[in-house]
Amino acid sequence: MAYSIAIDGPAGAGKSTIAKKVSRELGFTYIDTGAMFRAMAIYFVDNGIDNKDADMIGEACKSVTIELAYEDGAQQVILNGTNVTSRLRDEAVGNMASAVAVYPAVRSKLLELQRNIAEKMDVVMDGRDIGTCVLPDATCKIYLTASVETRAKRRYLELKEKGENPDLSKIEKDIEARDYQDMNRETAPLKQAEDAVLVDSSDMTIEDVCAAIISAYKSKLN
Ligand code: DC
Repeated sequence: MAYSIAIDGPAGAGKSTIAKKVSRELGFTYIDTGAMFRAMAIYFVDNGIDNKDADMIGEACKSVTIELAYEDGAQQVILNGTNVTSRLRDEAVGNMASAVAVYPAVRSKLLELQRNIAEKMDVVMDGRDIGTCVLPDATCKIYLTASVETRAKRRYLELKEKGENPDLSKIEKDIEARDYQDMNRETAPLKQAEDAVLVDSSDMTIEDVCAAIISAYKSKLN
């Protein structure tokens, strides 16, 4: 049986940083499910498909292929045979990903891929519905969150470091809008699973958060 840690939470809570570190420490594979939604989003952006066009989106889901590969341990996402990893973090792609994540056709396509991977190997999988929907029997479930202010500030500093000139209040508004969209959609909305451990990282270091998650995981093995 493969072991799994499901980490869900809102945008900017630090899921990917934490999930990567926890997976390294435990020797598990890190699966970034947001990257799969983002890859689908790239297809819609590149093909001029409107995020309200349910028919076109449903049709596209039948033919688009998404695969994961690993280069030096880092997840790569392959969309229709092309590596699109370098484009995944574009703002427009993130917004499209959140908008199309409401469609059951998109979700069920990616759900199958996510479950197949978790059956074969030990994973730390992060997303919005991993504990509630994708891996209901995960070995350990974590709901990782932080205040809107903290999450916006982290994003602001990240962009500053990249040499950009970000607007903190716009980032806060975007985060609130993304939270609303992710938490209020009909299919698989973001929410804490009943059996998930709540970790609020607002006043915690990365090391503290990882230690809390590893300890929650180990307690499930006893
Ligand atoms: O975690 P992220 O920002 O890369 O995710 C991008 C969008 O994809 C997010 O706004 C909602 C959607 N998503 C989802 O609905 N379910 C997941 N398991 C992962 C991401």
